[in-house]
Amino acid sequence: MPKIFTATDIQQFDKEVQKDYFDRHTPVIDCPSEVNENERFPVRIFLGSQYAHPDDGDHFIGKVQLWNRETLLAEATIFPGAMGNQPGHVEVVFTIIPKVSMNLTAMSYCTKHGLWQSLPKEVKVNHPDQQCSKS
Ligand SMILES: [Fe+2]
Repeated sequence: MPKIFTATDIQQFDKEVQKDYFDRHTPVIDCPSEVNENERFPVRIFLGSQYAHPDDGDHFIGKVQLWNRETLLAEATIFPGAMGNQPGHVEVVFTIIPKVSMNLTAMSYCTKHGLWQSLPKEVKVNHPDQQCSKS
């Protein structure tokens, strides 16, 4: 079983080099906190707010996944050279059509440094047909 690095692990470290390591690998989910049932919405996932990740033949971000609890919703495969063979910030956008409220998590896979997990993101799904109208 591989070790999965989580966003909360970074709080254990004080040294700048370790913050760099976590920042460039840990995915962040950017999406609305509240959406409507059966209405598509974008889930943007990006890596690194300050530090860019290499895009070398033997060291690159190869996968980004979006999970809802234990269910894999979407997965992007990224090949070396997609970021121009220069350090950069991998970003993907998945379009999701929700049925019920979700607890989203993103995973990224670095070919040299393994699996990294985002903080969870709760998304409340409104069901317009079930709302009572006030008069
Ligand atoms: Fe890496």
